[in-house]
Amino acid sequence: MAFVDWDEQLSLGDPMIDREHQTFVALINKVHEVSLSPDRDAEIMRALTAMYLYAKEHFFDEEALMERVGYADRLRHAELHRAFVTKTHALTDACLDGSLEFTELMAFLVDWLKQHIQEEDARIVRHAQDQEAAKN
Ligand SMILES: [Fe+2]
Ligand SMILES: [Fe+2]
Repeated sequence: MAFVDWDEQLSLGDPMIDREHQTFVALINKVHEVSLSPDRDAEIMRALTAMYLYAKEHFFDEEALMERVGYADRLRHAELHRAFVTKTHALTDACLDGSLEFTELMAFLVDWLKQHIQEEDARIVRHAQDQEAAKN
């Protein structure tokens, strides 16, 4: 069973963004899945690194979209992305040196992703869609 399920509440109606968010969810699930493997630490490290690199790629695409559609709040939004990258990095280190519970790391990743998509990313997509509608 997946740790976090993709559901319609996470779907924003922008095909590229939705596809990337689905991949993000799949990578978080992968981190959880490997935590049950015998070679746990190395596997977690590998899966977390993949998730982390993908997050950076996704943020890059989303920041380009904000730029393209002239989203006014883009600097604050980009700052939220930076903070996620920094915090994830720190939590990953803590998890690997044993000073953090793996479950706490997972809870952080899932809560952040859901909240960020539904509250923050949703605003960008709404802005892009309004702009598109105004053109027609
Ligand atoms: Fe975002
Ligand atoms: Fe996003």
